[in-house]
Amino acid sequence: MTRCPVIPVLVIPDLSLARPIAQALVAGGLTTLEVTLRTDCALEAIREMSKVEGAHVGAGTVLNGDDLARATEAGAQFIVSPGLTAEVAAAAQRHDVPLLPGVANAGDIMRGLDLGLSRFKFFPAMANGGLPALKALASVFGKVKFCPTGGISEDNAAEWLAEPAVTCVGGSWLTSGQFDAGAVESRAHRAAQIGR
Ligand code: 3PG
Repeated sequence: MTRCPVIPVLVIPDLSLARPIAQALVAGGLTTLEVTLRTDCALEAIREMSKVEGAHVGAGTVLNGDDLARATEAGAQFIVSPGLTAEVAAAAQRHDVPLLPGVANAGDIMRGLDLGLSRFKFFPAMANGGLPALKALASVFGKVKFCPTGGISEDNAAEWLAEPAVTCVGGSWLTSGQFDAGAVESRAHRAAQIGR
């Protein structure tokens, strides 16, 4: 979470795009990459992107222990989940891999704290009340840090990153639309400077 202010949330439709996307993002200065397990080639994409020098590749949309096992076997260095379940938390411990689970309310955070976690994805950030909701939660859980994701864009990322409880943000905007290496690198470059 502390490597870069923005974690690109990636949906890789075609394996041939995996390396060029990772190269463009890393060239722009974003080195922590979340590959969502939403496409058939996602696990292979994790393998391919992990070969790109400087890339720190993890898996997102990890829904259960089996997903987590497959992702770590493919080389995922961290795990992101849209929610928090005891099964995913136990699997992360078993595989000794960092877990960033999604939380949406105080009860979710308390369950996470009980499991020994203190870093969470606030998801879906905008639909779930936006910055006012995050600030209200952060005021209760002093040591907890968040990666808001869902509705974050180049236009509002700085506002989120100005909140002390926000360590980084996640978003899909870096690679939205038809792949264009130059455009992705430029977006990554701008994103890497946000809040700096
Ligand atoms: C996710 O896939 O984790 C988020 O839904 C990404 O949200 P965004 O597309 O609004 O950035």
